[in-house]
Amino acid sequence: MPASANGRPRVITDPLEMRAVVNESRSAGRRVGLVPTMGALHQGHLSLVRAATDQCDATVVTIFVNPTQFGPGEDLASYPRDLDRDLDLLAPTGADLVFAPQAGVMYPPEHETYVEVGPTAEPLEGAHRPGHFRGVATIVLKLFQMVPADAAFFGRKDYQQTLVVERMVADLNLDIEIRVCPIVREPDGLAMSSRNVYLSPAERTSALAISQSLQLAEREVAAGNRGAADIERRVRRHLTSTGGVDVEYVALVAAGTVTPVSTIDQPTVLAIAARVGATRLIDNCELRPEA
Ligand code: PAF
Repeated sequence: MPASANGRPRVITDPLEMRAVVNESRSAGRRVGLVPTMGALHQGHLSLVRAATDQCDATVVTIFVNPTQFGPGEDLASYPRDLDRDLDLLAPTGADLVFAPQAGVMYPPEHETYVEVGPTAEPLEGAHRPGHFRGVATIVLKLFQMVPADAAFFGRKDYQQTLVVERMVADLNLDIEIRVCPIVREPDGLAMSSRNVYLSPAERTSALAISQSLQLAEREVAAGNRGAADIERRVRRHLTSTGGVDVEYVALVAAGTVTPVSTIDQPTVLAIAARVGATRLIDNCELRPEA
């Protein structure tokens, strides 16, 4: 799976060619890693690529803005797309291949089969973005078929997405390992996201309330506060204190699940979704009472 001469990964657009290259690589005994993305790459994505290149002999990055995971009125049309820039960013990472199929190839007019996701996909993102995880699970399964890798790498920022994908892999007996990698943040704490480019300078400042409120919750738990309702209240208060942030949800769920907790006596994920201007951002952290 050689990269192209200028250090950029080679780009494949044809699913059959993609699968043949991966199968050939695995037949030769190479461990293949897959990093599914929608492009507009940032350091968070690149950390997934580095994890894949560290743990695997060959790495495939997929770049596809998946229409079926966007709802009506969401940012499908404006989602940032710049394949040239993405390839430049990937050049120093050691990624070998980029799979960048066309939408019409992934979803030809006759396409009618989707993954039916279950209760893990219902609350939080699922409640605010109906159909989102059906689209995510469907495209991830299709990518796993087209890039039959040994392991796939996902970022923890999309906490519920990692649970939905892990559930699908277990339920549908898929032969692939799922690796979940840490959230990467800007120096001031903002979680890296392709959507951060939408933020005006003032919104960028307002958005800091999200990571600050996660830190506030961590301090509360470290100081002995175990009350989920109290922490939720404090987090909401902080989020709305400076203006410019519209909270969609603040949830405290048992780590590895989407089940709400009332007492933080076990590892708990605090997940937040909020709108800053027109931009929807999500973030989360794990609260560990024993720490
Ligand atoms: O996390 C994302 O970027 C997307 O949801 C994914 C997994 C690439 C599927 O389109």
